Amino acid sequence: MSDLTNDRKLEHIRAIEKDPLTDRSGHYFDRIQLMHRGLPELALADVDSSCEFLGRQLSFPMLISSMTGGDHQLIKSVNRNLAQAAQICGVAMAVGSQRVMFSTPEAKESFELRELAPDVPLIGNLGAVQLNYGIGIEQAQAAIDCLGADALYLHLNPLQEAVQPEGDTDFSNLAQKIAELVAGLNVPVLLKEVGSGLSPSDIETGLQAGVRIFDVAGTGGTSWSRIEHHRRKDESDLGIKFQDWGIPTPTALKLANPYLGSATIVASGGLRDGIDMVKSVILGASLCGMAAPLLKPAMESVEAVVTEIEKIKTEFRTAMFLLGARDIAALFNNRAHILEER
Ligand SMILES: Cc1cc2nc3c(=O)[nH]c(=O)nc-3n(C[C@H](O)[C@H](O)[C@H](O)COP(=O)(O)O)c2cc1C
Repeated sequence: MSDLTNDRKLEHIRAIEKDPLTDRSGHYFDRIQLMHRGLPELALADVDSSCEFLGRQLSFPMLISSMTGGDHQLIKSVNRNLAQAAQICGVAMAVGSQRVMFSTPEAKESFELRELAPDVPLIGNLGAVQLNYGIGIEQAQAAIDCLGADALYLHLNPLQEAVQPEGDTDFSNLAQKIAELVAGLNVPVLLKEVGSGLSPSDIETGLQAGVRIFDVAGTGGTSWSRIEHHRRKDESDLGIKFQDWGIPTPTALKLANPYLGSATIVASGGLRDGIDMVKSVILGASLCGMAAPLLKPAMESVEAVVTEIEKIKTEFRTAMFLLGARDIAALFNNRAHILEER
């Protein structure tokens, strides 16, 4: 059991390396065209892309989405590179599922990142379904403490579990257990999907359980169905059949929009540049996550991750300039920036 959870993370990375089509390249944000301003009445240098998330300052609303953790040298160095780059660039970082800490104690080290990223939001991660398989408040608090986390992501991945040969597929009665976690932990709990999107019913159930921050993690980018397909040894094509299943991220953001009065929304799933990020903020996202685009740089070095994030930041600031948006408040949930949607 312990080796399975630990090794799975490496198998995921190898599957992504071998098969570029695990990134579905949906480009759903390309269907939205923004209102260019020829006279932005603004100096590019005066664009202020900074914002706050979980009480900490960010240089722009970017999150390194949950990816990995475990007892392997490669995985430890991926997390260290991401954490240092997050601190240098002033962006948030989430780690991958910390369940492995409880089966392989040596994996804890891969989540001990606070010293490397003292000033930015760090977000822990556990699978919500694990609340039906032995994980409880004690383990969730241990995961938070190990990372020095500002919040804990509970990921919802029914498609991934359904395709996984050894999947945990009992998603019944989770809302009550999520509510108990929300009430019992010393940091906020966030709900996220992993690339199939959250529906309005998911958000309503989460709100009733006391969750206030939701990461829609829609389709268009990394497909866990396709990744898990590669891990199957049998002839099943279930993972291919469902590889594009779910709610495209821009649609998920629009569906989440009515809840903005009571919920904070995070965009992720197929965001691939600073322009996708700007569109997400216009659709009501307070933070924009990317996972797969940062994996390869993270396997190289801190500098490679910093270079990638700085490129995305330049794109983000350039788009703000061309929209005449001086700061994030001028962008956030402001449909006036949308020219047309195809
Ligand atoms: C290598 C890799 C590992 C991931 N592991 C996790 C995980 O452990 N927990 C989780 O909540 N999401 C995980 N994700 C999902 C991402 O956090 C994100 O929700 C999803 O991949 C969509 O983002 P993307 O299209 O930018 O990759 C992982 C993604 C990648 C690429």
